[in-house]
Amino acid sequence: MAKQTWKPGNMLYPVPAVMVSCQRKGEKPNIITVAWAGTVCTSPAMVSISVRPERYSYDIIKESGEFVINLTTKELTYATDYCGVRSGRDVDKYKEMGLTPLESKVVKAPGIAESPVNIECRVTEVKELGSHHMFIAEVVSVTVDDKYMNENGRFELNKAGLVSYSHGEYFEQGKKIGKFGYSVKKEGTKNTTNKNKNINKPEEKNNDLKNNKLRRSDIKTGKTKNSNVKIKNKRSKTTKK
Ligand SMILES: Cc1cc2nc3c(=O)[nH]c(=O)nc-3n(C[C@H](O)[C@H](O)[C@H](O)COP(=O)(O)O)c2cc1C
Repeated sequence: MAKQTWKPGNMLYPVPAVMVSCQRKGEKPNIITVAWAGTVCTSPAMVSISVRPERYSYDIIKESGEFVINLTTKELTYATDYCGVRSGRDVDKYKEMGLTPLESKVVKAPGIAESPVNIECRVTEVKELGSHHMFIAEVVSVTVDDKYMNENGRFELNKAGLVSYSHGEYFEQGKKIGKFGYSVKKEGTKNTTNKNKNINKPEEKNNDLKNNKLRRSDIKTGKTKNSNVKIKNKRSKTTKK
């Protein structure tokens, strides 16, 4: 298999592209699109967003110590992109994109009513990493859209058409291909269906490699250790870059 080694850079994809809303007292609320966002702790629930100090939103978040993470959907993708290429210094992004400020439960900054999940955050730490400063924050309240609650009271977030960002492009969430822990679930138990139990399971023929019955050199020569069985040698067909 031919591989290339690149200089260090950001290649952790896909990631969520979220709309972070913030507001300075007495001023209009603003939205900044953030892809460098993540969950950093379960209990207490904590998240991080990394923002360049030159962004209009940076000082607002730093001074107010608050922000709201709004998850984005297919319908919000255009606005997500817009909020990531226009500055609140020049435009009112809520107005321009026809978005509705949603009163927050705990923080002063509003969320975005059109988003299925609004995560209210209070900054606990700012880490000056380099190009970006990371705001580490505690989640102080979460608001979800009733529209995605099913009859059993379960929140069906994955029906909201969430959007991710990968290598410069936006993607709508795709087909479900598994469930947490499905790789170790016993057949016939709850949550295991015949349909998904083998998804991405290494094929039987690769088990010889796993069990060390074959060596890498065997693959190169196209022969197995103990038999004359030919192994398909993909590498010989590829030109090394
Ligand atoms: C998909 C996408 C992801 C982005 N991620 C970040 C990010 O993680 N951190 C950041 O500082 N800027 C990020 N930006 C750029 C800001 O959103 C952009 O500079 C925005 O105009 C800043 O708005 P403001 O000046 O109103 O704060 C991203 C832009 C896009 C389109």
